[in-house]
Amino acid sequence: NKGSYKHYMQKEIHEQPESLTTTMRGRLLRGGSCKAKTVLLGGLKDHLKTIRQSRRIVFIGCGTSYNAALAARPILEELSGIPVTMEIASDLLDRQGPIYREDTAVFVSQSGETADTLSALEYALENGALCVGITNTVDSAIARNTHCGVHINAGAEIGVASTKAYTSQIVVMAMLALAIGGDTISNQARREAIIDGVFELPNKVREVLKLDGMMKDLAQELIAEQSLLVFGRGYNYATSLEGALKVKEVALMHSEGILAGEMKHGPLALVDETLPTLVIATRDACFSKQQSVIQQLHARKGRLIVMCSKGDAASVCPGGTCRVIEVPQLEDCLQPVVNIVPLQLLAYHLTVLRGFNVDQPRNLAKSVTTQ
Ligand code: UD1
Ligand code: M6R
Repeated sequence: NKGSYKHYMQKEIHEQPESLTTTMRGRLLRGGSCKAKTVLLGGLKDHLKTIRQSRRIVFIGCGTSYNAALAARPILEELSGIPVTMEIASDLLDRQGPIYREDTAVFVSQSGETADTLSALEYALENGALCVGITNTVDSAIARNTHCGVHINAGAEIGVASTKAYTSQIVVMAMLALAIGGDTISNQARREAIIDGVFELPNKVREVLKLDGMMKDLAQELIAEQSLLVFGRGYNYATSLEGALKVKEVALMHSEGILAGEMKHGPLALVDETLPTLVIATRDACFSKQQSVIQQLHARKGRLIVMCSKGDAASVCPGGTCRVIEVPQLEDCLQPVVNIVPLQLLAYHLTVLRGFNVDQPRNLAKSVTTQ
């Protein structure tokens, strides 16, 4: 039931304040008689000790689920101190890459039925790794066949383009990082700031959804373009990949997410005054590096669209010539949850304006059950 919305994708983008609320429900505790802020992931509590002892955590997934894991990787590394590596399921299988008994392999899948991810799960089970599932679908193959896991509880996702599952996956993996990471005095302030940030998320997402009209205007401007580049780094490298995936998958426009640190190693050659180039430059430890990326793109007459934190428009826009998307700021590791929303809206409006099928893009299926 689409309610008052025209498409499931539109509905699912707009219901993210609610889906994020159900994702965190009962899993974060703070205030009241219980002063300490803690995380409780029921599905993992008996396995946390084993996970903490693992030599490596390997994230495995496809498409948007892979991107969500990539967004959560930095905070998991920071809080756990355990090396975290990334695998696209099909690539792990193609290489028959090494998976060890001492590994924790985390399988991320909205549907829980993706064939590549399921085959990678079988492979990791054969190799003796502890297998953890992060899925939206209770009783799915991945939920059943993993040793333990967490349901993201985002509610059914109908649109082929994954939107609300992405943001809920990131939140679950941030909670996973908190659950695995030790509760030491030195990281207490950081942990509390993240937990407070998770509680603030539904309101921040509600706020960023108000950019809907502005993203529609931007879509109108980009309607006839051939391509859109999206530069990100750090926590928001994943945002650039996921934003580009949304644009190509539903709006049928070429789009590429690019690690900004790689700009001079090739992609800069593409930049000219006609190619729309979106740079994610919200406040975090990479901000000054992104400011310099913007300067360099501007020097090459790049057609700039900059996403920045509220109040930063003047400091990110050289000569006041670029389009600016201002988003509310929050704890750096949760910023990807807010930053993806304008890009979801952009992809949605581009698709409608270009006259393509929003919920059933050509050639694609919601759940990819063949290899
Ligand atoms: C569970 C209940 C929830 C209830 C809550 C009360 C279910 C599905 N969830 O939620 O309705 O409100 O207790 O405390 O009944 N699992 C996997 N692989 C996966 C995902 C999950 O093995 O990919 C396992 C978990 O290890 C766990 C079980 O499935 O044993 C349920 O996981 P989850 O729903 O995340 O647990 P709770 O949040 O505790
Ligand atoms: O159900 P899964 O999360 O395993 O699906 C993985 C991908 O097929 C999926 O995310 C795909 O990339 C989406 N259509 C992206 O919007």
